[in-house]
Amino acid sequence: MAGTVYIKTYGCQMNEYDSARLADLLHETHGLVRVDDPARADVLLVNSCSVREKAEEKLFSDLGRLHEWKAARPGAVIGVGGCVASQEGEDIRRRAPYVDFVFGPQTVHRVPALLADARAKNPRVDIAFVEMEKFDNLPEPRADGPRAFVSIMEGCSKYCSFCVVPYTRGQEFSRPFDDVLAEVAMLAEQGVREVTLLGQNVNAYRGRRSDGGSADLATLIGYVAHIEGIGRIRFTTSHPLDFTDSLLDAFAAEDRLVAHLHLPVQSGSDRILARMKRGYTVAEYRDKVERLRYVRPGISLSTDIIVGFPGETDEDFAATMALIEEMRFDLSYSFAYSPRPGTPAAMLVDDVPAAVKAERLARVLSRNLEHAADISRGMIGGVERILIDRRAPRGRGDLSGRTENNRVVNFPGGEEDLVGRFATVEILEVRPNSLRGRLVGVETRIPSAIVKQREAAIP
Ligand code: SAH
Ligand code: F3S
Repeated sequence: MAGTVYIKTYGCQMNEYDSARLADLLHETHGLVRVDDPARADVLLVNSCSVREKAEEKLFSDLGRLHEWKAARPGAVIGVGGCVASQEGEDIRRRAPYVDFVFGPQTVHRVPALLADARAKNPRVDIAFVEMEKFDNLPEPRADGPRAFVSIMEGCSKYCSFCVVPYTRGQEFSRPFDDVLAEVAMLAEQGVREVTLLGQNVNAYRGRRSDGGSADLATLIGYVAHIEGIGRIRFTTSHPLDFTDSLLDAFAAEDRLVAHLHLPVQSGSDRILARMKRGYTVAEYRDKVERLRYVRPGISLSTDIIVGFPGETDEDFAATMALIEEMRFDLSYSFAYSPRPGTPAAMLVDDVPAAVKAERLARVLSRNLEHAADISRGMIGGVERILIDRRAPRGRGDLSGRTENNRVVNFPGGEEDLVGRFATVEILEVRPNSLRGRLVGVETRIPSAIVKQREAAIP
């Protein structure tokens, strides 16, 4: 019997990517089949996140429940990975001795060995920072539908004062240029049409090229856009400081790059931005957005905002609300500040009362929802290019796709198998979590003559 693995993933898309690759790897090395119900698993892995509030406590309370899960299953194994694992290391096994092994964001590829050792009653903790070793040792990617993520860099060297990522995922390093292109090409051959390039600070990408030079994110995007089958490119997450003119040029020149950008601003107050060590002012952020909107009118902009950073006054918060009003973010991931162990901001007095943080957060969230709803309503009557990614879960014969600004559109699709095709739909109606549309046309697959032309144009 080969056995089954259940992976519980918290946090960012990079963790989702790591979990997916880990499942592929365990399938290859141990024949494990990934299941989505822990009750059916023999191996249970937790890929944790420590970016926000009380992550450590949440993990230990989850682990408390897993103790019972394990007690009911002779031979069952529990492994804990991700950023909390990186941060807590040996302490995890001290507080939860029934955990069989611990791995970090950069030792995902060593899980098969850790699992084998755990089964031989040799529990281990391996949270080393080993840079490229992980990517060199993961199996070839397996596509799961027409959209895929590709991790192109790891870690972060920005050291924003509130953020734990540089300590848990390590310093920035980029995967070599050719490795990324090879991975995208393999995915495209398996039917992937949209690729999201991932990194904690993805626009700091500097990939080594086989000719000895290095390529930035804009160059990478230009090459990815020439890979046969790839019709859409996204990337996340960007830091405003690394949002360079070359990326602006990419937005201007490359229509396969979606009209959407996630550009975390964190605060609308220069005083707070400086205390956060973000390295830019509101005026500088605004300038980048204005130039982006000039080359891509109507581009959808999403952001991250932290409320209640130490020392945030009513005035600082009012500046954040004013920026939200001005920018009309399409979506914002907003959070109440919480001190993260080992970060410089954790040394500051966390002086904004919890009730004030909660009230500010509620205001940010509700204003953002209003803006997003306005943007959705403004799409009614318009025609959108979507990638059809599945049959809609409800509604017989309905198909479902996503617009460039990441909205789900459901529409009657008929019998033809259109999943994986680009199409245009007219937007008819806004529903609570999706849009309703009408199919206008389906793009033909890219004729090979055009692919040849595009290949010839590769810089
Ligand atoms: N570049 C990263 C950002 C990491 S953390 C990425 O790929 O997403 C994601 C967001 O969590 C940050 O942009 C910030 O808004 C929020 N965050 C990070 N540390 C936090 C803290 N200590 N308290 C509250 N929110 C935090
Ligand atoms: Fe964190 Fe700032 Fe890097 S938010 S991930 S230290 S860009």
